[in-house]
Amino acid sequence: MAKNSNLRQAKAAKKDEFYTQYADIQKEVNAYIEYNPDVFRGKTILLPCDDPEWSNFTKFFAQNFEFFGLKKLISTSYAIESKNYKTDWQPTLFEIENPLYNADKSRLKGKIFTLDHDTNANGRIDINDLQWQYLEGDGDFRSEEVTKLRDEADIIITNPPFSLFREFVAWILEANKQFLIIGNQNNICYKEIFPLIKDNKIWLGRGFAGGAGHFVSIYEDIAVAGDHKPGMIRVSGVHWFTNLEHGRRHQPLQLMTMADNIRYSRHKEVNGKDYMKYVNYDAIEVPFSDSIPSDYEGEMGVPVTFMDKYCPEQFEIIGISLTLATTKPANLPKSQQGGPAFYLLDENGYKRLYPRIVIKKKQQP
Ligand SMILES: C[S@@+](CC[C@H](N)C(=O)[O-])C[C@H]1O[C@@H](n2cnc3c(N)ncnc32)[C@H](O)[C@@H]1O
Repeated sequence: MAKNSNLRQAKAAKKDEFYTQYADIQKEVNAYIEYNPDVFRGKTILLPCDDPEWSNFTKFFAQNFEFFGLKKLISTSYAIESKNYKTDWQPTLFEIENPLYNADKSRLKGKIFTLDHDTNANGRIDINDLQWQYLEGDGDFRSEEVTKLRDEADIIITNPPFSLFREFVAWILEANKQFLIIGNQNNICYKEIFPLIKDNKIWLGRGFAGGAGHFVSIYEDIAVAGDHKPGMIRVSGVHWFTNLEHGRRHQPLQLMTMADNIRYSRHKEVNGKDYMKYVNYDAIEVPFSDSIPSDYEGEMGVPVTFMDKYCPEQFEIIGISLTLATTKPANLPKSQQGGPAFYLLDENGYKRLYPRIVIKKKQQP
């Protein structure tokens, strides 16, 4: 129950310290490599908002530097003094034992790690060739120096601070860069993000199994016992957002006709029932992505979780209820009031729905 709200709470409380597991990065990046083995070849990758001394992003891309054919890897961190959450933080031995170590800078400055050549002359470029120094500032992605690194990069990859997701996407797109970043299902509905998804300028990545991920975190895990992993926090509704191509988004959903859904659906909300029309918008309500009728030509409202299965060759996105619902029924009971939403009406009265994405079957040429 509470597990669903971890990320929402994180944002509200500006809890940004969630660290991504190596296996999750590997699984996601594999989807792009499978689709295009040269996706990273000759490219400069920037990993901002990271902690390069122990980040799995830095580790993963440094270890695969040659395999991916990278030109350059740049990774930057955010100074401990600037973070919202102060821990009894200590610099790592790696830093303390390095001649560059400076106790003041260590707390106040971000760091930059770069990898672009074989510094130790062992015949290969790998994690041992990373070079580092302190940044001039704290490593804020919005700073001039990190923005310059963005401009130098071809692709930006990270798990950015959840509290700054919109700003982070805007920062990437104003420079017209490719990217692969982690965000939350709610981000899909943001007024700054949804139009980009609708216009197929950005989309969801391959994703986390079951739409939930475990992150290394300093915060208390409130996941149900079965999902708990020591030292980690379970975050549900977590997604990768990207503008890099991958194969999964081109696989159409296998769907039944409306009649077959009504006859055979495994969902009690669909089986034996008619598809209902919204009271305040001309579309039918489809409560589950696997219940989309293959033979319906009109507009259909689907839950936001559909975006995970969206294939642009199969469906066109018309909009989202948050902007399409311009009217609402009169005299709504208090429990059904709120911001723009679609409504259904049955024998129990009006029912206000969670955000719906409105889609339409794509006309085949
Ligand atoms: C969700 S964590 C992910 C860390 C790392 N990328 C990973 O996945 O393992 C986001 C990090 O961004 C840092 N951060 C917060 N605000 C930032 C800002 N304005 N600029 C750069 N980094 C920031 C946070 O302190 C946090 O360490």
